[in-house]
Amino acid sequence: MPSCSDPTRRKLILTALATGACIASSRSAAAADEDQPGSDERPQKGDVLVFSEKDHAGEVIEPQDLKLGGPPVRAWPKDPKTSVVRKGSRLNEVVVVRLDPAELDEETRPRSADGIVAYSAICSHAGCPITAWVKGATGDKDVLKCVCHNSEFDPRHSAQVVFGPAPRRQAALPLAMADGSLTVAATFVGKVGQQAG
Ligand code: FES
Repeated sequence: MPSCSDPTRRKLILTALATGACIASSRSAAAADEDQPGSDERPQKGDVLVFSEKDHAGEVIEPQDLKLGGPPVRAWPKDPKTSVVRKGSRLNEVVVVRLDPAELDEETRPRSADGIVAYSAICSHAGCPITAWVKGATGDKDVLKCVCHNSEFDPRHSAQVVFGPAPRRQAALPLAMADGSLTVAATFVGKVGQQAG
């Protein structure tokens, strides 16, 4: 029977704690808005995106807020008609990054707006939030990374898994430009987080 001094078991325990901590912190943030109707509904066509963290939390993200080549920003969808920010479910958080449109593949480009792409922020492996933008382990471009177990996703290619244990790519949130503003063009394409099926 493995003991706590067993390196493998120790690693498993640390992983479980890290995953739990990620989920717990996101849940507490989401809880505050749980009672707003629509706050836990998935992103809808016509939603805008607002910053989900730091000094600009709650402010609408404009295209010029995003630096070409990253880093990504984290965002919640917001219903512009009701002003409800859809943060009642942690599964609604996305990462948004501006890339050179010429770098996007044929599947990714139609979902982008002037090179800006958005993907679920919840890792398809064990549900940690994606927090890093780093040089990929298998290439020379920056990629989205989940540091819980080091899965990496290439946002230029539909957030396909390019490294690590994640079983599938991140769900994409199609974007559009309306009168110079960034909007959601459709709900998520693909499964969000650890959804079964
Ligand atoms: S939760 Fe395991 S790599 Fe993201």
